[in-house]
Amino acid sequence: MKPLYYILFFVIFSSRYFFVVCQNVPSPRCQQTSTLVGTRFYFFGGVTSLNTYNEVWYLDLSNSFNISTPPWHSDVAMPVAYNLGSSCLNPIDSSTVFLIGGRTRIATSATTDDYSVYKFDSKTSQWTTPAINNFNSNFTSRNTIQAVVDNNGKIFIFGGSDFISLTMTPTSNFYNDMNILDITTMIWSTLTQSQSILTYVDYTATLLPNGLIAYIGGRSGSSTSFASGSTIASRVAHSAVLTQDGNIIIYGGETLNGSGYAAYVFSDIAVLNTNSWVWFVPSVSGTRAPPLADHSAALYNNYMILAFGETSSTLYTNNIYILDIQNYTWVTTFNIPTTTNPAKQTQSNGNSSTDQANNNSSTLNFGIGIGVGVVLAAFLFVIGFFIYKNRHKQEIIATPGTPNT
Ligand SMILES: *[C@@H]1O[C@H](CO)[C@@H](O)[C@H](O)[C@H]1NC(C)=O
Ligand SMILES: *[C@@H]1O[C@H](CO)[C@@H](O)[C@H](O)[C@H]1NC(C)=O
Ligand SMILES: *[C@@H]1O[C@H](CO)[C@@H](O)[C@H](O)[C@H]1NC(C)=O
Ligand SMILES: *[C@@H]1O[C@H](CO)[C@@H](O)[C@H](O)[C@H]1NC(C)=O
Ligand SMILES: *[C@@H]1O[C@H](CO)[C@@H](O)[C@H](O)[C@H]1NC(C)=O
Repeated sequence: MKPLYYILFFVIFSSRYFFVVCQNVPSPRCQQTSTLVGTRFYFFGGVTSLNTYNEVWYLDLSNSFNISTPPWHSDVAMPVAYNLGSSCLNPIDSSTVFLIGGRTRIATSATTDDYSVYKFDSKTSQWTTPAINNFNSNFTSRNTIQAVVDNNGKIFIFGGSDFISLTMTPTSNFYNDMNILDITTMIWSTLTQSQSILTYVDYTATLLPNGLIAYIGGRSGSSTSFASGSTIASRVAHSAVLTQDGNIIIYGGETLNGSGYAAYVFSDIAVLNTNSWVWFVPSVSGTRAPPLADHSAALYNNYMILAFGETSSTLYTNNIYILDIQNYTWVTTFNIPTTTNPAKQTQSNGNSSTDQANNNSSTLNFGIGIGVGVVLAAFLFVIGFFIYKNRHKQEIIATPGTPNT
């Protein structure tokens, strides 16, 4: 009995060791959606060529770690298996996550379900399907989108594709509308666009502090041709984070072949300065991350954290990679400064944002009004990007500058 007693004692009282020994690790996947909630970087669902997941995982960013042993934790699973959707943190309570759109499947069957919005309370790990007023049924199963949320709780989702059935022709429709969910009233609204605005999927969307949303990369409808680029190649399924000095850093992504599989997966970094609208390619040091598409990214302190993704057609990863954005160095350790100056750490947390452009900072005022939204012309510049402004009609916001490498 004595050895058993010692083992139990050791397991129960050495909780640090307990987690190292017993914690599970998620399997490789891509097309999950992700949101940073305080010190937890959450991942919802995901797919491989064999499985669609309803799992919820998070990385605990409250302590330093080596990327070879990420601090994974699993949370309560989603009611549905899920991929190609988008998620936003409620900026008012900073703890509830809204999952918007996506291809959802009832976990035990192949049928799709009709809910397009799920709500996850990260404090209680509870899932609910909120009632929505004036929901646009055209939005059902809308996927390959990226939502952004402003500080007042308005979620903006542009374009996307629906999903009818693999046995139907076409398998899906593509959209150019702007859908808006106000999570304070749960009222849905849809701004339809003229047909001169192309349908748009598989982009990144980044909300800037001045109320503009910058859409980068992506494609129109089922097209597998992308805007031509001399320096920074056009792409889909990349990631983007916004730094506090107004740079959008993008990583990876892919081009698709005629059957919609990855033809080429990128492993490069490019930076768009949203003050000058000039791209640059920084020189990067450290052991580079591999090619990744349909991965997740978030900015936490000065770290751009990448997780999961497709490394080539039908090959997936569960690794995480970390870029120190102060000097574009890939690092193997995630360091939380020792608590000599906790105030400093909190401040830089507040200014971090994720690939969904969620921003926890209450000091930033995005100033988005109700207004009639019009999506502006696509600027096919090096890698195509364009800008949505919902405060004024049809106003050209910025003309891209010249490439600067
Ligand atoms: C991280 O872990 C790997 C594998 O155990 C090890 O080779 C590497 O030296 C560690 N890095 C640091 C900075 O401790
Ligand atoms: C839904 O889509 C149909 C056809 O695609 C279109 O005619 C209709 O206006 C759309 N409805 C809304 C509310 O956007
Ligand atoms: C696209 O790639 C997939 C997976 O590698 C392959 O099976 C398919 O034949 C390719 N399609 C085309 C049109 O090249
Ligand atoms: C990058 O910056 C970090 C933080 O200032 C520093 O610790 C690290 O040594 C730098 N790495 C290189 C390669 O300069
Ligand atoms: C964070 O953003 C606020 C508001 O823009 C700014 O005053 C503050 O200096 C920023 N913090 C850091 C560490 O740059």
